[in-house]
Amino acid sequence: MSLFVRKPIAQLFAEAEDSEKGLKRTLTSGALVALGIGAIIGAGLFARTAAAAATHAGPSVTIGFIIAAVGCAFAGLCYAEFASMIPIAGSAYTYSYATMGEFIAWIIGWDLILEYGVGAATVSSYWSQYLNEFLKIFDMSIPYQWFHSPFETDPQTGVTGIINIPAIFILLVLSLLLIRGTKGSAAVNNIIVFVKVAIILVFVAVGWSYIRPENHTPFIPDPTKYTNPETGVTTNFGGIMGLLGAAGIVFFAFIGFDAVSTAAQETKNPKRAMPIGILGSLAICTVLYILFSWVLTGVASTEDFRTHGKEASVTYAIQHLEGSTVGGEWVPKYGWLANLITVAILAGFSSVILVMLLGQSRVFFSMSRDGLVPKVFSQVHPKYRTPYKANLIFFVLSSLFAGFVPADVVGEMTSIGTLFAFILVCAGVWIMRVRHPEIPRQFKVPALPVVAILGIVVCAAMIFGLGWTNWLRLFGWLAIGMIIYFAYSIRNSHLQKGKP
Ligand code: ALA
Repeated sequence: MSLFVRKPIAQLFAEAEDSEKGLKRTLTSGALVALGIGAIIGAGLFARTAAAAATHAGPSVTIGFIIAAVGCAFAGLCYAEFASMIPIAGSAYTYSYATMGEFIAWIIGWDLILEYGVGAATVSSYWSQYLNEFLKIFDMSIPYQWFHSPFETDPQTGVTGIINIPAIFILLVLSLLLIRGTKGSAAVNNIIVFVKVAIILVFVAVGWSYIRPENHTPFIPDPTKYTNPETGVTTNFGGIMGLLGAAGIVFFAFIGFDAVSTAAQETKNPKRAMPIGILGSLAICTVLYILFSWVLTGVASTEDFRTHGKEASVTYAIQHLEGSTVGGEWVPKYGWLANLITVAILAGFSSVILVMLLGQSRVFFSMSRDGLVPKVFSQVHPKYRTPYKANLIFFVLSSLFAGFVPADVVGEMTSIGTLFAFILVCAGVWIMRVRHPEIPRQFKVPALPVVAILGIVVCAAMIFGLGWTNWLRLFGWLAIGMIIYFAYSIRNSHLQKGKP
């Protein structure tokens, strides 16, 4: 047995061609860009921006977006080369199996649960906050304890959370939708992508004239510490560490472009479509994010995002652009817009959760076909041809995180896990160029090793900024993964057993 046994490239191609066992090829490059934007714009922008401003960087969260975008661009180029070379399901996991061997591939596959499964949990946690805002339109609201984890306490009322029920509800609905099939879900996704881009543009257009320069001053606050009264967690605020921490947090907003690569096996002409899907969606989102974060931090203050505007921050910001007090109550000028955008955000978050859950089941589909995880993860539904059992299992796993862990914590776990996977992908594409220069690549990373090295450095800097509690969580997660690898996967691996 060898930890570094590598899957032959020829075998990967043969598997991709094996349509009997494979998934249906229905997606085009346009559909991939839509899938990418569907996965990318979500809670990272509409919820984590305010959180990063409140706890790490104030208005300089905008610079955090730029740092994160740079890291993603380097990693995205590496993803695109891989995806154009090995266009089959499984994303970073598949690539690393062919390049860095089984053990690293396992670590990546295991790590990707943080990105997709825990990522879906994060977005669903924030979905609850916006659902609460939505219900307020009808003078209803969800009691604090039913949409917060047991590790959060409302500083105003002293009420402690029990479980985040709406988060679990939305995970269930979307898992069932996925079981019905990818194609139907992609059509819904296209509409939602349009809506999400519209929210950003409308918010920027309306909010721009309400930017108050004092909210942007000082743009980079002096270094200090901040303790979140709801969770008791202390973080570096301001200065370089605040910036890197904020970049690590809002990096979450970019996660998803790589989910495009998990759909390779369902894509027509994947060699060309993959780089377009990955880099196109990344570029569009970067521009939108910079504009959005500039306006958001300009129309409300860091203090607002620590207090009244902490939850459903975008709705809050729009409600407080302008208004008047009538009979002791605040009547916002743009209440209608806040309501519309709240609904749109609920739909937008749903599309993100959908793609994350899709990515998750596809990664485990591949791992299961390789024998690294049990067969149940690759059993395809006889009628819908989707890995329905995997969808159900990941519904349960994501629900545990969404229901019982604070959104901030699951969000940071997602960021750090994904950053780690990106580092391995950057290393992998470089290794592959040296070892297998002969394999045709439809898309080649320019100026390799430089781009790969810069990708590694920028992602590592963000990991550094996320602080030791997150390093420990990542370490613990990887340790559990290693136990499973040595107890199960290495013994059942088809490659180790010499099975085709
Ligand atoms: N990028 C996705 C989001 O922001 C995960 O919600």
